[in-house]
Amino acid sequence: MHKFLFAFFLFISASAIAQDVAIAQGWKFKTGDSSQWALPGFDDKEWAAIKIGEPWESQGYKNYDGFAWYRLHVVIPSSIKEKSFLKERIKFDLGKIDDGDEVYLNGMLIGKNGGRNYDIKQGPYDAQRSYTLSLNDSRILWDKENVIAVRVWDGGGDGGMYEGKYGISVMDVVDYIHIGTNEDFQFNGQQVAKKIALQSTSDKYDFNGKLRITIEDPSTIAVVFKQTIGADFAKNRPFEYTYRANLPSNKSYIASYVFEESRTKKEIIFSEGIPYILTPRPSPKPKINGPDVYGVRANAPFLYKIPATGEKPIAYDAVGLPKGLLLDKQTGAITGSVLAKGNYKVKLVAKNKLGTATKKFTIVFGDLIGLTPALGWNSWNCWGLSVSDEKVKASANQMADKLAGHGWSYINIDDGWQAAKRNENGEIVPNKKFPDMKALCDYVHGLGLKIGIYSSPGPQTCGGYLGSYQHEEQDARTYGAWGIDYLKYDWCSYGNIAPKNPSLDDYKKPYIVMRDALNKVDRDILFSFCQYGMGDVWKWGAEIGGNSWRTTGDINDSWGSLSGIGFSQDGPAPFAQPGHFNDPDMLVVGKVGWGPSLHNTKLSPDEQYTHISLWCLLSAPLLIGCDMSQLDDFTLNLLTNDEVLAVDQDAMGKSARKVFEKNTIQVWAKELEDGNKAIGIFNLGDKAASASINFADLNLPSQLALRDLWRQQNLGTFKNSFTSSVPAHGVVLLKSRLATVKKRE
Ligand code: GAL
Repeated sequence: MHKFLFAFFLFISASAIAQDVAIAQGWKFKTGDSSQWALPGFDDKEWAAIKIGEPWESQGYKNYDGFAWYRLHVVIPSSIKEKSFLKERIKFDLGKIDDGDEVYLNGMLIGKNGGRNYDIKQGPYDAQRSYTLSLNDSRILWDKENVIAVRVWDGGGDGGMYEGKYGISVMDVVDYIHIGTNEDFQFNGQQVAKKIALQSTSDKYDFNGKLRITIEDPSTIAVVFKQTIGADFAKNRPFEYTYRANLPSNKSYIASYVFEESRTKKEIIFSEGIPYILTPRPSPKPKINGPDVYGVRANAPFLYKIPATGEKPIAYDAVGLPKGLLLDKQTGAITGSVLAKGNYKVKLVAKNKLGTATKKFTIVFGDLIGLTPALGWNSWNCWGLSVSDEKVKASANQMADKLAGHGWSYINIDDGWQAAKRNENGEIVPNKKFPDMKALCDYVHGLGLKIGIYSSPGPQTCGGYLGSYQHEEQDARTYGAWGIDYLKYDWCSYGNIAPKNPSLDDYKKPYIVMRDALNKVDRDILFSFCQYGMGDVWKWGAEIGGNSWRTTGDINDSWGSLSGIGFSQDGPAPFAQPGHFNDPDMLVVGKVGWGPSLHNTKLSPDEQYTHISLWCLLSAPLLIGCDMSQLDDFTLNLLTNDEVLAVDQDAMGKSARKVFEKNTIQVWAKELEDGNKAIGIFNLGDKAASASINFADLNLPSQLALRDLWRQQNLGTFKNSFTSSVPAHGVVLLKSRLATVKKRE
């Protein structure tokens, strides 16, 4: 169902446990399904060779969905038992499998992972498969050839054994140890404090050993903090420790935690980047943020809350509003409906006791909405299918409180809201987690925000919930009646409706049907296509009325996924334009989890700066994928830098292009409406590097003033080129400051 990119580099290491028997190579593959293929004696010589760690789509099976099998012949030597102190269980690490799997060892099932009720078709694709057996299990043939056969189901998009950890090992004490790092970092001036925990999942054993904590400056490799402490713990008795370190400057540092277990001397290792905040705090003086242009269609209810920061209370004004629109001067919400076509130039005003701010704002009343990319939140990357009314409201409250002033406005419910059956009239109804959808929409609108929903053109969504197939007009009407402002429409089981090898028209068809249905509803509903980039959707998404279209498969919170997706967007880039944007998937900052339990994003702070910078340069919709009620200061800093967000919201709607690439350095530049350029210098390498931009390569004058957008500081004027150190997996985000710039008429 999902599409992933090969994780070519793992920066943050979760554990350093060696595998005893390597199984990354030598796999055979066949599409289709037969119970014979589980059997050890089955002759698979004619089967094709395949790589694991990459979806089958990238290995000659483009667009193949359905069942397929992987087989491996491997000798498991009994000598590997000697490497383990415990000598109890053996573990088969088979990476992540998209969507669901059943694993057979010598013809017998040893594990399966298929989500609810173990339905292979509903696999929680984004989970490492590690199946364990007792060393005495008769299914293992010691010192002989064993056959591992993996039956895989994929319902759409990329599929197969696509990423993760592979190997066979005898489990040892370290397999029962986990280093808990989910507590937030605390900052006090130059001092950073962090509580970490050593946890055990073993019912049987107590552990002790040494915990070494090291902090390193990655640009010089200098160790700036070191501490070793004795630690002992057991299942219900974690060892918790708060370390405190003085960090001389506000920049990238890496903390490593190594626990050495006393009996085995084996180590478990975890490293993480220490967050550092670059965004200056907003001034108490009023400031109006958000886009310069805003599209609206005929008869559609209008809602735009003037995004402003500054000390409250703020009094608002809007001069030159078209007929039909009214401003609430206390909340800044503009409502009503526009009656006559045209471009309306409005002056927005925000005033508090410290001053007055104004902003030119153009309301474009025509056929196009979503002139700048959507800024909002979506439930998927945090809550997955466990989304509920309460969780949506909690996020809406936080958005209204902390983010709306910076232009964030959409609260989007992803998969998991639908009841199992339509009502007697065939209308879609929410499940019991959403007692009253209309009331929820009213609630969100009452906060000055907008609300989105999710469906599929197929009979079922990717999560197995009801889709809109053959109910498109009815569903569009229902959304309209509830007050929905955004629809994400996900291909999923439409793969079973479309022909096996879809033509371009087949790809377009379900989106045209829903576009027509939405056009009949008197609401401005942003239409977001989600079909993972099939048929080069960026080439035709605009012409069939998509406001955005996913260009890739699903993102996850790893550097491989983020960089694989983000840095492959140069092809679709020329197709971005006002009202029609490439969507490289949602943000993976903050606390994410795709289900009821959340974890801190595994991206390092520098990777997160890269994420936001690149997505803004690409003019991507920015949909926050974390639990908003647990927004830490660092995540807030990423999401509230108005100069960075202004790059995303630039009215010209262009995407950055890759203008330079050498070794690990890539430079992406975006033309801005004021005639300037936003420039991202990215370092994809795992070491800090010095990088330069030549102004001539960017068609910029030889004498150039530059501004650092994250720090919101002018850097001075440079001749011919600019050089800077760029952290590993990090970015320097700049804007040119040309003296004469174009202005929007
Ligand atoms: C995927 C989609 C995700 C999410 C999920 C819901 O196909 O790409 O973003 O919507 O389905 O089941």
